[in-house]
Amino acid sequence: MNLFKYFAVFFLTAALCLPFSSAQAKTVIEVAHTQMETHPDHIALLAFKDYIEKHAGETYEVQIFPNQKAGSNEQAIELLRAGSIQFMVISTSILERYNKKYSLFSIPYLFTSENDYEKFITDPNILEELGAKNEEDGFTPLSAFTAGSRSFYAKSPIITPEDLKGKTFRVQSGFTNKDMMDFFNANEMTISFGEVYSALKKGLIDGAENNELALVEQKHGEFCKYYAYDHHQMIPDLLVGSTVFLYSIPQDDYEMFRQAALEAQKVEFALWKDSIEKAKKSAKQMGVKFMEVNVDDFRKTVTPIHEHMLKTRPEIKSLYDKARGMGSHEG
Ligand code: GCU
Repeated sequence: MNLFKYFAVFFLTAALCLPFSSAQAKTVIEVAHTQMETHPDHIALLAFKDYIEKHAGETYEVQIFPNQKAGSNEQAIELLRAGSIQFMVISTSILERYNKKYSLFSIPYLFTSENDYEKFITDPNILEELGAKNEEDGFTPLSAFTAGSRSFYAKSPIITPEDLKGKTFRVQSGFTNKDMMDFFNANEMTISFGEVYSALKKGLIDGAENNELALVEQKHGEFCKYYAYDHHQMIPDLLVGSTVFLYSIPQDDYEMFRQAALEAQKVEFALWKDSIEKAKKSAKQMGVKFMEVNVDDFRKTVTPIHEHMLKTRPEIKSLYDKARGMGSHEG
């Protein structure tokens, strides 16, 4: 081959291959969640993305899909289990259908303080126990985000547990929530997070239960003007990875994703309290009244659920004992 031909072939090959190979070299990592872009979970995921792209930007490009863009939580977890998306932030309440261990967190009044709850969910041994022998789950928990505590809110005041009776509240999917509402003598409707606003608008439900952010970011406060601090549940959100994906990558990369998830956890916790304070302020401007109620009355109404859960879901026993061992308990 003469020199001219040699260079012509070289440059042509390079021109054809370059954009293709550089595009091919990066694996796109898709991360889903259902919160708005102002929510601490989203900002924490931006830190997750930054960490990954800083440490392995030549290999991975991270794309975040907030606000149900990858579907509802219930749909996105199926995509993740199939390996179509790689990570998502999801409430343990939805995960209990895949592994009963996760129902632990839906037990009302499991923890006596938010401090105990936060210590528990950020303990690496707890996460490891949750994720152990999880071949069938299809997901692996890498870090936990706080979601504060959940309380009831409605279109009419809630002062005692009696005020829940006969009313219909939206709950997250998960068997334990149904049991809890039975103990409260209230009706529950399982509706995915993004659909609650329209269910309230259509009058399908009298209220819902969540932390204060839902009043503002999901605009539930437009309809529900009474928020009763009964603090019935503390349910974390987990940053989970697709097991199919995590098994397919080198061990070092797995470790890097785990570190990125822990970075995200730090960011989420650092933002949480302030974002709740801001949400409260905005909710008040929407006309929402925050009411302190006698938490013990609510607790006593549902205490028998603890026995019921231990009987029907023995898988939770070891984690339950650890959670209960954290503080002083009255019921
Ligand atoms: C909280 C939680 C979400 C969950 C939502 C719900 O906002 O952080 O993960 O999906 O409650 O009630 O559905």
